Amino acid sequence: MHSFTDLVPAFEERFMASVPFSQFPPTLYDPCRYFLKLGGKRLRPVLCLMANEMFDKINEDAWHGAFGIELFHNFTLIHDDIMDKAPLRRGQPTIHTKYDMTAGILCGDVMNIYAYDEIAKIKTALPLVLRVFNKTAIEVCEGQQLDMDFERRDNVHLGEYLHMIALKTSVLLACSLKIGALVSGAMGDNANKLYAFGVNMGIAFQLQDDYLDAFGKTELLGKQNGGDIISNKKTYLHLKALELANAAQKKEIEALLQHNGDDKVQAMLSLYSATGADSHCRQAVAHYSTLAFDCLEDVAVPGKRKEPLMELANYLLLRDR
Ligand code: IPE
Ligand code: IPE
Ligand code: MG
Ligand code: MG
Ligand code: MG
Repeated sequence: MHSFTDLVPAFEERFMASVPFSQFPPTLYDPCRYFLKLGGKRLRPVLCLMANEMFDKINEDAWHGAFGIELFHNFTLIHDDIMDKAPLRRGQPTIHTKYDMTAGILCGDVMNIYAYDEIAKIKTALPLVLRVFNKTAIEVCEGQQLDMDFERRDNVHLGEYLHMIALKTSVLLACSLKIGALVSGAMGDNANKLYAFGVNMGIAFQLQDDYLDAFGKTELLGKQNGGDIISNKKTYLHLKALELANAAQKKEIEALLQHNGDDKVQAMLSLYSATGADSHCRQAVAHYSTLAFDCLEDVAVPGKRKEPLMELANYLLLRDR
C-alpha cells in the first residue's frame, strides 16, 4: 500500500512525462504546459490511485483515470479563475492574467478534451466509468453556475450552499475514488461506498477551502487572500455570520456587500470572527470529515487497506494550502 507522500511524486513523474499537448500553435499549448507545471496538491489523481490499490495492485487503467481526472480538474480551475477574476493560482499568475482571455478559454477547452482522451484509454468497465465521469462533469458546471448566481443573491440558505459545493467540488473527489475502484474490478457496492466517502470528504474540503480563502495565508495558499469576500461569495462563513449576527452586525455585513473599498476584506473578517462564524466553520469541517470516515468504515475490505485514505483525509483536515 502507498501513502499520499509516495503517490504524489510517482504521479507527478508519470504525468509530466506524458503531458499530451502538441507544439502548434504555441499560443494555445504553452499556457497549457505552464499551468500543469505549476503543480498543485494532486489530490484527485491520488484518490483514484488509492481507491484502486485498496482492492489490488495499481493498474494501468487507474493511471489513465488519474491523468484524465487531473486534466479535467485543471480545466475547471482555468475557467474558474476567469469567472472568479482571480489573479493568482498556485503562487503564479492565472492564465487569463499572464496571457489573455482567449488563452484562458481555449486552454481550458482543449484540456477538457484531452481529459476525455485519457479516460477513453481505460479498458475495464469503461461504460460505467464514462457514466460517472460525464455525470460529474455536468454537475460541476451546475455547481459553478450556482456559485456565480449566489454572488448576486442575498437570500441564500445554508442548505443551498451545501448543495452547491457538493456539485462544484465534492462530486469530482467522489468520482476519482469511484473510477479507481471500478477499474480494479471492485463490486459496485464498494465503489458506491467510496463515492459516499468522497462526497462527505469533498464537502469538508470545500468548507476548508472557503475558510482558508478568508483566514489562510496567500504565501501558503498561492491564491489571493479574501477573494471570496471581494466577490461577495456566499460561503459557509458568510451565511453563518449572517445567521449569528446581532442587528447591528447584520447591518454591517449587508453594507459591506455593497462596498468595494480596500478595507472590505478586513472588516468582513472581523465580523466572521466576532459572530463566531469562524469556529462554526471549523466545526462543520470536522462534522463532514466524521461522516466521511463513517462511510469509509462501510467499505468491505480489511481495515489495513483503508489506512492510506484515512491518513489522507486526516491530512486534509489540518491543511493550510
Ligand atoms: C481547488 O482545488 C479548487 C477547489 C475545488 C477548492 P485544489 O485545492 O485541489 O487545487 P490544487 O490542484 O491543489 O491547486
Ligand atoms: C472552485 O471553487 C471549484 C471548481 C474549480 C470547480 P473555488 O472558486 O472556491 O476554488 P478556488 O478557491 O478558486 O481554488
Ligand atoms: Mg475560484
Ligand atoms: Mg469559484
Ligand atoms: Mg476557494
